[in-house]
Amino acid sequence: MPAIPPNVRGAVITGWGSALPLKVITNHDLEQTIDTSHDWIVDRTGIHQRHVGGSTVGLSVESGRATLEMSGVELSSIDALVLATTTPDRVVPASAATVQHQLGLSCGAYDVNAACSGFVYALVQAHGMIAMGAKKVLVIGTDTLARITDWTDRNTAILFADGSAAVVLEAVEGHGQLLGWDLDADGAAEKFLYSEVGGLIQMDGKEVFRRAVRIMVDSATKSMNHAGITADEVALVVPHQANIRIIQASLDRLGLPMEKTALVLHRTGNTSSASIPLALADALDNGRVKKGDLVLLVGFGAGMTAASAVLRWGGTTADGADPAVLP
Ligand code: COA
Repeated sequence: MPAIPPNVRGAVITGWGSALPLKVITNHDLEQTIDTSHDWIVDRTGIHQRHVGGSTVGLSVESGRATLEMSGVELSSIDALVLATTTPDRVVPASAATVQHQLGLSCGAYDVNAACSGFVYALVQAHGMIAMGAKKVLVIGTDTLARITDWTDRNTAILFADGSAAVVLEAVEGHGQLLGWDLDADGAAEKFLYSEVGGLIQMDGKEVFRRAVRIMVDSATKSMNHAGITADEVALVVPHQANIRIIQASLDRLGLPMEKTALVLHRTGNTSSASIPLALADALDNGRVKKGDLVLLVGFGAGMTAASAVLRWGGTTADGADPAVLP
Protein backbone atom coordinates (compact mmCIF):
# COMPACT_ATOMS: atom_id res chain seq x y z
CA MET A 1 0.00 0.00 0.00
CA PRO A 2 1.24 3.51 -0.74
CA ALA A 3 2.05 5.96 2.02
CA ILE A 4 -0.58 8.61 2.89
CA PRO A 5 -0.25 11.64 0.56
CA PRO A 6 0.65 14.90 2.31
CA ASN A 7 -2.05 17.49 3.05
CA VAL A 8 -5.07 15.13 3.08
CA ARG A 9 -7.70 16.00 5.67
CA GLY A 10 -7.16 13.79 8.71
CA ALA A 11 -9.28 12.56 11.61
CA VAL A 12 -9.06 11.68 15.27
CA ILE A 13 -11.05 9.27 17.43
CA THR A 14 -13.19 11.28 19.84
CA GLY A 15 -15.30 8.54 21.41
CA TRP A 16 -15.40 4.81 21.92
CA GLY A 17 -17.63 2.20 23.51
CA SER A 18 -18.16 -1.54 23.72
CA ALA A 19 -20.82 -4.17 24.36
CA LEU A 20 -20.58 -7.79 25.46
CA PRO A 21 -23.50 -10.22 25.91
CA LEU A 22 -24.30 -11.02 29.54
CA LYS A 23 -23.98 -14.79 29.16
CA VAL A 24 -20.48 -16.08 29.98
CA ILE A 25 -19.19 -19.54 29.06
CA THR A 26 -16.08 -20.49 31.02
CA ASN A 27 -13.54 -23.16 30.09
CA HIS A 28 -14.95 -25.21 32.98
CA ASP A 29 -18.39 -25.00 31.34
CA LEU A 30 -16.86 -26.35 28.11
CA GLU A 31 -15.28 -29.24 30.05
CA GLN A 32 -18.86 -30.44 30.66
CA THR A 33 -19.72 -30.67 26.95
CA ILE A 34 -16.51 -31.40 25.00
CA ASP A 35 -13.30 -33.35 25.59
CA THR A 36 -11.09 -30.49 26.79
CA SER A 37 -9.77 -28.90 29.97
CA HIS A 38 -9.43 -25.40 31.39
CA ASP A 39 -5.66 -25.81 31.69
CA TRP A 40 -5.26 -26.97 28.08
CA ILE A 41 -7.29 -24.04 26.73
CA VAL A 42 -5.40 -21.48 28.83
CA ASP A 43 -2.05 -22.99 27.93
CA ARG A 44 -2.71 -23.25 24.17
CA THR A 45 -4.81 -20.07 23.66
CA GLY A 46 -4.78 -17.78 26.73
CA ILE A 47 -8.61 -17.81 26.85
CA HIS A 48 -10.38 -18.29 30.22
CA GLN A 49 -13.95 -17.40 29.29
CA ARG A 50 -16.05 -15.92 26.49
CA HIS A 51 -19.34 -13.96 26.18
CA VAL A 52 -22.06 -15.37 23.91
CA GLY A 53 -25.53 -14.22 22.89
CA GLY A 54 -27.35 -11.33 21.30
CA SER A 55 -27.52 -10.28 17.69
CA THR A 56 -25.09 -8.33 15.53
CA VAL A 57 -27.58 -5.46 15.27
CA GLY A 58 -28.36 -5.46 19.01
CA LEU A 59 -24.71 -5.43 20.11
CA SER A 60 -23.81 -2.83 17.47
CA VAL A 61 -26.58 -0.49 18.64
CA GLU A 62 -25.35 -0.85 22.23
CA SER A 63 -21.68 -0.10 21.48
CA GLY A 64 -22.59 2.53 18.88
CA ARG A 65 -24.88 4.39 21.30
CA ALA A 66 -22.23 4.42 24.05
CA THR A 67 -19.69 5.75 21.56
CA LEU A 68 -21.93 8.54 20.25
CA GLU A 69 -22.76 9.58 23.82
CA MET A 70 -19.11 9.72 24.79
CA SER A 71 -18.11 11.84 21.79
CA GLY A 72 -21.10 14.15 22.26
CA VAL A 73 -21.63 14.52 18.49
CA GLU A 74 -25.07 15.43 17.13
CA LEU A 75 -26.72 12.36 15.59
CA SER A 76 -27.57 14.42 12.51
CA SER A 77 -23.88 15.24 11.97
CA ILE A 78 -22.76 11.62 11.40
CA ASP A 79 -21.95 11.30 7.69
CA ALA A 80 -21.50 7.54 7.48
CA LEU A 81 -21.76 4.33 9.49
CA VAL A 82 -19.38 1.49 8.64
CA LEU A 83 -20.05 -1.84 10.36
CA ALA A 84 -17.31 -4.45 10.19
CA THR A 85 -18.87 -7.88 10.60
CA THR A 86 -18.53 -11.44 9.37
CA THR A 87 -21.84 -12.40 10.90
CA PRO A 88 -24.59 -10.05 9.70
CA ASP A 89 -28.04 -10.89 11.03
CA ARG A 90 -29.39 -11.24 7.49
CA VAL A 91 -27.85 -11.76 4.06
CA VAL A 92 -29.79 -8.66 2.92
CA PRO A 93 -30.01 -5.87 3.98
CA ALA A 94 -26.67 -4.99 5.54
CA SER A 95 -26.92 -5.05 9.33
CA ALA A 96 -25.50 -1.51 9.25
CA ALA A 97 -28.77 -0.24 7.74
CA THR A 98 -30.80 -1.57 10.69
CA VAL A 99 -28.22 -0.22 13.16
CA GLN A 100 -28.36 3.20 11.45
CA HIS A 101 -32.15 3.30 11.90
CA GLN A 102 -32.09 2.11 15.51
CA LEU A 103 -29.42 4.67 16.45
CA GLY A 104 -31.49 7.48 14.87
CA LEU A 105 -28.86 8.34 12.25
CA SER A 106 -29.53 9.66 8.77
CA CYS A 107 -26.46 8.72 6.74
CA GLY A 108 -24.99 6.07 4.48
CA ALA A 109 -24.55 2.72 6.20
CA TYR A 110 -22.89 -0.48 5.00
CA ASP A 111 -21.19 -3.66 6.20
CA VAL A 112 -17.56 -4.60 5.62
CA ASN A 113 -16.54 -8.26 5.74
CA ALA A 114 -12.80 -8.78 6.03
CA ALA A 115 -13.19 -11.39 8.80
CA CYS A 116 -11.10 -10.61 11.89
CA SER A 117 -9.24 -7.81 10.04
CA GLY A 118 -12.57 -6.08 9.38
CA PHE A 119 -12.37 -3.30 11.96
CA VAL A 120 -9.01 -2.05 10.68
CA TYR A 121 -10.28 -2.23 7.08
CA ALA A 122 -13.32 -0.17 8.13
CA LEU A 123 -11.19 2.33 10.05
CA VAL A 124 -8.95 2.92 7.05
CA GLN A 125 -12.01 3.36 4.80
CA ALA A 126 -13.47 5.86 7.26
CA HIS A 127 -10.28 7.93 7.10
CA GLY A 128 -10.59 7.80 3.31
CA MET A 129 -14.16 9.18 3.50
CA ILE A 130 -12.95 11.98 5.74
CA ALA A 131 -10.16 12.79 3.27
CA MET A 132 -12.96 13.06 0.65
CA GLY A 133 -15.06 15.51 2.64
CA ALA A 134 -16.98 13.59 5.34
CA LYS A 135 -16.63 15.12 8.81
CA LYS A 136 -17.88 12.47 11.22
CA VAL A 137 -17.94 8.70 10.74
CA LEU A 138 -19.08 5.98 13.14
CA VAL A 139 -17.08 2.75 12.81
CA ILE A 140 -18.36 -0.36 14.57
CA GLY A 141 -16.84 -3.86 14.77
CA THR A 142 -19.27 -6.59 15.79
CA ASP A 143 -19.42 -10.36 15.49
CA THR A 144 -21.73 -13.04 16.80
CA LEU A 145 -19.56 -16.04 15.98
CA ALA A 146 -21.33 -18.26 18.51
CA ARG A 147 -24.09 -18.66 15.91
CA ILE A 148 -21.69 -20.17 13.35
CA THR A 149 -19.59 -22.17 15.81
CA ASP A 150 -20.01 -25.94 16.16
CA TRP A 151 -20.18 -26.26 19.95
CA THR A 152 -19.36 -29.99 19.69
CA ASP A 153 -16.06 -29.29 17.86
CA ARG A 154 -13.27 -28.76 20.41
CA ASN A 155 -11.05 -27.34 17.67
CA THR A 156 -13.18 -24.20 17.31
CA ALA A 157 -15.63 -24.08 20.28
CA ILE A 158 -12.80 -23.10 22.63
CA LEU A 159 -11.94 -20.02 20.55
CA PHE A 160 -14.92 -18.10 19.21
CA ALA A 161 -17.37 -15.69 20.88
CA ASP A 162 -19.53 -12.57 20.52
CA GLY A 163 -18.96 -8.86 21.12
CA SER A 164 -18.96 -5.36 19.71
CA ALA A 165 -16.99 -2.12 20.01
CA ALA A 166 -17.03 1.17 18.15
CA VAL A 167 -15.28 4.50 17.62
CA VAL A 168 -16.32 7.90 16.28
CA LEU A 169 -13.89 9.58 13.91
CA GLU A 170 -14.02 13.35 13.52
CA ALA A 171 -12.27 15.39 10.84
CA VAL A 172 -9.53 17.75 12.00
CA GLU A 173 -7.62 20.64 10.45
CA GLY A 174 -4.53 19.17 8.82
CA HIS A 175 -3.01 15.80 9.38
CA GLY A 176 -4.88 13.59 11.84
CA GLN A 177 -4.02 10.43 13.72
CA LEU A 178 -3.45 7.96 10.87
CA LEU A 179 0.25 7.86 9.97
CA GLY A 180 0.45 4.57 8.06
CA TRP A 181 -1.72 1.60 7.11
CA ASP A 182 -1.69 -1.71 5.28
CA LEU A 183 -4.45 -4.01 4.05
CA ASP A 184 -3.80 -7.45 2.62
CA ALA A 185 -5.60 -10.64 1.58
CA ASP A 186 -4.63 -14.04 0.16
CA GLY A 187 -7.69 -15.81 -1.19
CA ALA A 188 -5.63 -18.92 -1.97
CA ALA A 189 -5.62 -19.58 1.79
CA GLU A 190 -9.42 -19.45 2.17
CA LYS A 191 -9.64 -23.23 2.63
CA PHE A 192 -7.95 -22.99 6.03
CA LEU A 193 -10.78 -20.98 7.64
CA TYR A 194 -14.27 -20.60 6.20
CA SER A 195 -17.98 -21.05 6.70
CA GLU A 196 -20.49 -21.72 3.92
CA VAL A 197 -23.68 -19.58 3.91
CA GLY A 198 -25.82 -21.12 6.65
CA GLY A 199 -22.93 -23.35 7.76
CA LEU A 200 -20.48 -23.57 10.65
CA ILE A 201 -16.83 -22.52 10.89
CA GLN A 202 -14.31 -24.99 9.46
CA MET A 203 -10.68 -24.45 10.46
CA ASP A 204 -7.21 -25.90 10.06
CA GLY A 205 -5.88 -24.41 13.28
CA LYS A 206 -2.22 -25.25 12.74
CA GLU A 207 -2.10 -23.73 9.26
CA VAL A 208 -3.97 -20.60 10.41
CA PHE A 209 -1.55 -20.23 13.31
CA ARG A 210 1.51 -20.57 11.09
CA ARG A 211 0.28 -18.03 8.53
CA ALA A 212 -1.12 -15.63 11.15
CA VAL A 213 2.25 -14.88 12.70
CA ARG A 214 3.84 -14.28 9.30
CA ILE A 215 1.13 -11.94 8.00
CA MET A 216 0.78 -9.98 11.26
CA VAL A 217 4.52 -9.28 11.25
CA ASP A 218 4.51 -8.43 7.55
CA SER A 219 1.54 -6.06 7.78
CA ALA A 220 2.71 -4.32 10.97
CA THR A 221 6.16 -3.79 9.44
CA LYS A 222 4.66 -2.21 6.32
CA SER A 223 2.47 0.16 8.36
CA MET A 224 5.38 1.21 10.56
CA ASN A 225 7.53 1.81 7.46
CA HIS A 226 4.79 3.94 5.87
CA ALA A 227 4.46 5.88 9.12
CA GLY A 228 8.23 6.35 9.25
CA ILE A 229 8.49 4.91 12.76
CA THR A 230 10.33 2.04 14.42
CA ALA A 231 8.91 -0.59 16.78
CA ASP A 232 10.59 0.92 19.85
CA GLU A 233 8.59 4.15 19.34
CA VAL A 234 5.24 2.29 19.64
CA ALA A 235 3.54 2.92 23.01
CA LEU A 236 0.70 0.40 22.63
CA VAL A 237 0.04 -2.55 20.30
CA VAL A 238 -3.57 -3.61 19.83
CA PRO A 239 -3.42 -7.03 18.17
CA HIS A 240 -6.28 -9.24 17.02
CA GLN A 241 -7.28 -11.29 20.06
CA ALA A 242 -7.15 -14.80 18.59
CA ASN A 243 -4.54 -16.68 20.57
CA ILE A 244 -1.97 -15.44 23.11
CA ARG A 245 0.72 -17.57 21.47
CA ILE A 246 0.11 -15.94 18.07
CA ILE A 247 0.34 -12.52 19.72
CA GLN A 248 3.52 -13.45 21.60
CA ALA A 249 5.23 -14.92 18.53
CA SER A 250 4.33 -11.91 16.36
CA LEU A 251 5.45 -9.35 18.92
CA ASP A 252 8.71 -11.22 19.49
CA ARG A 253 9.50 -11.02 15.79
CA LEU A 254 8.55 -7.32 15.71
CA GLY A 255 10.77 -6.61 18.72
CA LEU A 256 7.84 -5.41 20.83
CA PRO A 257 7.46 -6.39 24.51
CA MET A 258 4.21 -7.94 25.80
CA GLU A 259 3.87 -5.10 28.38
CA LYS A 260 2.96 -2.82 25.47
CA THR A 261 0.04 -5.02 24.39
CA ALA A 262 -3.69 -4.42 24.90
CA LEU A 263 -5.26 -7.75 25.88
CA VAL A 264 -8.86 -8.76 26.56
CA LEU A 265 -8.57 -12.22 25.02
CA HIS A 266 -8.58 -14.03 28.40
CA ARG A 267 -12.12 -12.80 29.12
CA THR A 268 -13.61 -12.34 25.61
CA GLY A 269 -12.20 -15.13 23.42
CA ASN A 270 -11.93 -14.39 19.70
CA THR A 271 -14.69 -11.94 18.76
CA SER A 272 -13.41 -11.38 15.18
CA SER A 273 -14.32 -7.87 13.97
CA ALA A 274 -14.91 -6.74 17.57
CA SER A 275 -11.61 -7.98 18.91
CA ILE A 276 -9.30 -5.05 18.10
CA PRO A 277 -11.77 -2.28 19.07
CA LEU A 278 -12.68 -4.14 22.28
CA ALA A 279 -9.00 -4.28 23.27
CA LEU A 280 -8.49 -0.65 22.22
CA ALA A 281 -11.51 0.55 24.22
CA ASP A 282 -10.30 -1.39 27.26
CA ALA A 283 -6.82 0.18 27.04
CA LEU A 284 -8.35 3.65 26.65
CA ASP A 285 -10.74 3.12 29.58
CA ASN A 286 -7.74 2.11 31.69
CA GLY A 287 -5.79 5.25 30.79
CA ARG A 288 -3.07 3.35 28.94
CA VAL A 289 -2.94 5.82 26.02
CA LYS A 290 -2.00 9.49 26.27
CA LYS A 291 -2.04 12.24 23.69
CA GLY A 292 0.79 11.87 21.21
CA ASP A 293 1.35 8.13 21.86
CA LEU A 294 1.91 5.89 18.85
CA VAL A 295 -0.64 3.06 18.73
CA LEU A 296 -0.24 0.08 16.38
CA LEU A 297 -3.38 -1.88 15.44
CA VAL A 298 -2.70 -5.21 13.73
CA GLY A 299 -4.95 -8.11 12.84
CA PHE A 300 -5.40 -11.13 10.59
CA GLY A 301 -8.33 -13.30 9.65
CA ALA A 302 -10.05 -15.60 7.19
CA GLY A 303 -9.40 -14.69 3.60
CA MET A 304 -6.63 -14.74 4.68
CA THR A 305 -6.71 -11.05 5.38
CA ALA A 306 -4.29 -8.92 7.33
CA ALA A 307 -4.60 -5.27 8.30
CA SER A 308 -2.67 -2.78 10.36
CA ALA A 309 -2.58 0.92 11.12
CA VAL A 310 -0.31 3.28 13.03
CA LEU A 311 -2.13 6.08 14.87
CA ARG A 312 -0.66 9.05 16.71
CA TRP A 313 -3.21 9.39 19.48
CA GLY A 314 -5.11 12.67 19.36
CA GLY A 315 -3.43 13.55 16.08
CA THR A 316 -0.91 15.57 18.03
CA THR A 317 1.81 16.75 15.67
CA ALA A 318 5.51 16.17 16.34
CA ASP A 319 5.92 19.67 17.79
CA GLY A 320 3.02 19.07 20.19
CA ALA A 321 0.33 21.10 18.37
CA ASP A 322 -3.26 19.96 18.87
CA PRO A 323 -5.31 19.74 15.65
CA ALA A 324 -8.75 21.34 15.97
CA VAL A 325 -11.80 19.13 15.37
CA LEU A 326 -13.90 20.52 12.49
CA PRO A 327 -17.48 21.49 13.47
N1 COA B 1 -8.70 -29.60 24.29
C1 COA B 1 -7.81 -30.52 24.71
N2 COA B 1 -6.91 -31.11 23.88
C2 COA B 1 -6.93 -30.75 22.60
C3 COA B 1 -7.84 -29.79 22.10
C4 COA B 1 -8.76 -29.21 23.01
N3 COA B 1 -9.65 -28.29 22.63
N4 COA B 1 -7.61 -29.64 20.79
C5 COA B 1 -6.59 -30.44 20.46
N5 COA B 1 -6.17 -31.12 21.56
C6 COA B 1 -5.09 -32.09 21.65
C7 COA B 1 -4.80 -32.76 20.31
O1 COA B 1 -5.56 -33.94 20.15
C8 COA B 1 -3.34 -33.05 20.43
O2 COA B 1 -3.15 -34.20 21.22
P1 COA B 1 -1.96 -35.25 20.89
O3 COA B 1 -0.68 -34.47 21.07
O4 COA B 1 -2.17 -36.30 21.93
O5 COA B 1 -2.20 -35.68 19.48
C9 COA B 1 -2.79 -31.88 21.23
O6 COA B 1 -3.89 -31.38 21.99
C10 COA B 1 -2.22 -30.77 20.38
O7 COA B 1 -3.18 -30.49 19.34
P2 COA B 1 -2.90 -29.41 18.25
O8 COA B 1 -4.00 -29.43 17.23
O9 COA B 1 -1.48 -29.56 17.79
O10 COA B 1 -3.03 -28.08 19.12
P3 COA B 1 -2.47 -26.66 18.81
O11 COA B 1 -1.38 -26.34 19.72
O12 COA B 1 -2.27 -26.42 17.34
O13 COA B 1 -3.71 -25.76 19.26
C11 COA B 1 -5.43 -24.40 18.31
C12 COA B 1 -4.92 -25.83 18.53
C13 COA B 1 -6.71 -24.45 17.52
C14 COA B 1 -5.67 -23.76 19.67
C15 COA B 1 -4.31 -23.61 17.56
O14 COA B 1 -3.90 -24.33 16.42
C16 COA B 1 -4.76 -22.24 17.12
O15 COA B 1 -5.14 -21.41 17.92
N6 COA B 1 -4.68 -21.94 15.81
C17 COA B 1 -5.09 -20.66 15.29
C18 COA B 1 -6.60 -20.60 15.19
C19 COA B 1 -7.12 -19.21 15.08
O16 COA B 1 -6.58 -18.28 15.61
N7 COA B 1 -8.24 -19.07 14.36
C20 COA B 1 -8.93 -17.84 14.20
C21 COA B 1 -8.22 -16.99 13.24
S1 COA B 1 -8.99 -15.42 13.09
